Amino acid sequence: MPLIAPSILAADFANLQRDVEMLNRSAADYIHVDIMDGRFVPNISFGLPVCAAVKRHAEKPLDVHLMIVEPDKYLEDFRKAGADIITVHFETCPNLHRTLQHIKELGALASVAINPHTPVVFLSEVLGDVFQVLIMSVNPGFGGQNFIENTYRKVRELVELRADAGVSFDIEVDGGVNGQNAQLLVDAGADVLVAGSFVFNSADPLAIISGLKNNLSS
Ligand code: DX5
Ligand code: ZN
Repeated sequence: MPLIAPSILAADFANLQRDVEMLNRSAADYIHVDIMDGRFVPNISFGLPVCAAVKRHAEKPLDVHLMIVEPDKYLEDFRKAGADIITVHFETCPNLHRTLQHIKELGALASVAINPHTPVVFLSEVLGDVFQVLIMSVNPGFGGQNFIENTYRKVRELVELRADAGVSFDIEVDGGVNGQNAQLLVDAGADVLVAGSFVFNSADPLAIISGLKNNLSS
């Protein structure tokens, strides 16, 4: 059974408290928080004060996905704003090992993300240092994009690398996750599914979340 991390990027920002409370009541495991800076990705989402506001109402861990350049500058701030899991992008971290240690020193769980063009093998030297690896299944920057099919192969490759290394971490898939690909992703080895528009654009988000979680792998 996968963990489910609905992304509040697709929530109604004018009713964030309402939507976070809905997630509290749902079968979701994490609340996924997408931070975009307009530099690493061609879009700006929201920043620290919104993350802190979500934290005030959240009863589930915040899974904070930093799509920002120079994330080291803001790790402490996001930890203070309530991040439980902090994901940095491989593509933004010239000293990735140091960045992951810093996240852990702050008391958060360390996670690293790779873009669609980045091979999973580039992470081989840090697989023992992470709680989670996030495989982007769209190019980061926007919700509602189409799922990239190569993702299944990348998940399978990462499952193999993890076994070869004899380490454990969760494999999270983010972008374009929906009822068509969720089961296939779990079959490939995904442990955590992020879903934004599939959850929030639905008339019944609670049913969508529990469907993602419970009707799979049975
Ligand atoms: C994309 C973000 C995703 C996004 C997912 O850059 O990292 O977390 O919110 O949204 P959907 O599920 O709509 O693709
Ligand atoms: Zn994300």
